[in-house]
Amino acid sequence: MNIIIVYAHPYDGSFCKGLLDTVSSRLQSRGAAVKVKDLVKMKFDAVMQPDDLKAARTEAYTDEVKREQADVLWADAIVTIAPIWFGAMPGFLKGYFDKVFMTKFAYDERIGGKLQGKRVFSLFTAGSNDPYLDMAGQYECINLSMDNLFGSTGFVDVATKFYQSVPIVTAEERKQYLTEAIQFVDQIFDCQPGEVGQVGHGGLLTKLHMQGYLNGRV
Ligand SMILES: Cc1cc2nc3c(=O)[nH]c(=O)nc-3n(C[C@H](O)[C@H](O)[C@H](O)COP(=O)(O)O)c2cc1C
Repeated sequence: MNIIIVYAHPYDGSFCKGLLDTVSSRLQSRGAAVKVKDLVKMKFDAVMQPDDLKAARTEAYTDEVKREQADVLWADAIVTIAPIWFGAMPGFLKGYFDKVFMTKFAYDERIGGKLQGKRVFSLFTAGSNDPYLDMAGQYECINLSMDNLFGSTGFVDVATKFYQSVPIVTAEERKQYLTEAIQFVDQIFDCQPGEVGQVGHGGLLTKLHMQGYLNGRV
């Protein structure tokens, strides 16, 4: 099993870093080959530059993007680890996927998602509690965003796990959170592709696109 962990947090003292350490050693102990993409440490340029977008037509991706795309093709599954910022994934994580999952590489207007059969398991930390995240639409915002990103590009599992009230939980609760992270990523090994989290709106988007709804033919 080949797995990339896309890690989007700038601070080593964060709970996200605890998740990264726990999850990467668990995946390796289950026999996976793991590559960690620490976006801040690798100084990934998450800003969409003119050449990046031009590649949607020319497929002349930059070297930085090409390297990441090769690893995406190598991976059976992607794990993401990030905090929720203003109800969404951090901008530089979104920027990574916008650039790496560029049209033609991850998605083709005629044939749909090109990353068929891959799986994504995402861990998000939050400052707020469960009722707030629900009422403010933050779960929904993240889930729809992940679904559009991965569902429309062909992923068969799009699973998310949220950690509430991270800055104020007790040390005991943090330990429990890490145990739950292990159980969450163990599903990569213990469940068949497609069994964990089926795509929703992202898959629907692809279907509508195929039927011509999104490009004005219908
Ligand atoms: C710019 C910024 C925006 C944030 N927005 C939210 C938010 O919308 N919802 C939320 O629950 N927490 C929000 N937080 C709190 C972080 O999600 C929380 O502190 C973090 O997940 C704790 O985990 P960490 O130790 O891994 O950083 C925000 C924090 C920052 C810095």
